[in-house]
Amino acid sequence: MASTHAHMVMVRAFAPGKCILFGEHAVVYGHPAVAVAIDSGVEVELTESESWTIDGKSFDAARHPHISHILYDVFGYDGAPLQIGIRSGLFSAAGLGSSAALSNAMGAAVQALMRPGEAIDSVELARIGHAAEAKAQAGRASPADTATSALGGCVVVSGEPVDGARHVFDAELETPEGRREWSVCKVDLPENLDAWLVLGFTGIGSPTGDMVAGVASLLQRDPSKYADMDAIAKITQAGLTALGAGNLEAVGMAMDACHERLQSLEVSSPELDALVEVVRPHSLGAKLTGAGGGGCMVALTQDPQRVAEEIEIAGGTPLISRLGAEGVRLLEGK
Ligand code: PMV
Repeated sequence: MASTHAHMVMVRAFAPGKCILFGEHAVVYGHPAVAVAIDSGVEVELTESESWTIDGKSFDAARHPHISHILYDVFGYDGAPLQIGIRSGLFSAAGLGSSAALSNAMGAAVQALMRPGEAIDSVELARIGHAAEAKAQAGRASPADTATSALGGCVVVSGEPVDGARHVFDAELETPEGRREWSVCKVDLPENLDAWLVLGFTGIGSPTGDMVAGVASLLQRDPSKYADMDAIAKITQAGLTALGAGNLEAVGMAMDACHERLQSLEVSSPELDALVEVVRPHSLGAKLTGAGGGGCMVALTQDPQRVAEEIEIAGGTPLISRLGAEGVRLLEGK
């Protein structure tokens, strides 16, 4: 590790963001959700220093709950002051899991600093990240973002058994509404899948809590909408089977079907629908991803440049990714 000072220790870690392919909103009702890690994410660099700073400004622990939880509550850090550097390649408040990626990269970096030479344990980091998210979000957090960012690849989070997925660990959380439990599984994707994901950010923040509350009140007003939830659960299972088999056309069809059900649950928006429409001719499938309302849509395509251009021309911001990037990892020093 290169450094200008003999005793100055520097560590770097990277954790990817995520994109939900199937099952958003239905997962709140115990059904499975399928997410994949994307190429873009968050990088954390920690350098021992004379004083505490974050991105060049003085570090106030209270203003950074994810970071201080990991430093003090999880690792009991009592070493030298740190210069904390954070670089994000994700749109924030867009449903791409930037806070989960931050927690995981921070956890990996702090571990490397305190237990040098020890391999990182991605399941342990997923648990740490989930607890950090819960702490920062008033006790309510699904493990999907942190698990996908930690484990990488394709992750299924569910309250019910899922065909074709390999169990990795169980997550649990005491929430204000009671105890919740999830099974976190991985799906092995075929190698060299000949398709890319193109995300399209609407530029509008995605208020997950409001969207989830909106769906709850819609279901109360109109119980016939439970049919959409059940349909999403079936589409998710079909999409997952297609994904595991590398049947990209069927994955795309399932994505299109999922978008229709999410529209029926009133979580899409004119901006999301416009981006989905514009990419469809050059995509295998397209849908909103995550909470909806704003945030991002995602297309599965064999022509990612073309789709990225369509998104840009329609007023969105594109981000191209492979399906199922690697999970959290340490990076070589500069
Ligand atoms: O905001 P996102 O992209 O993490 O999506 C939230 C997914 C929901 O199913 C809408 C909510 C949840 O807690 O699972």
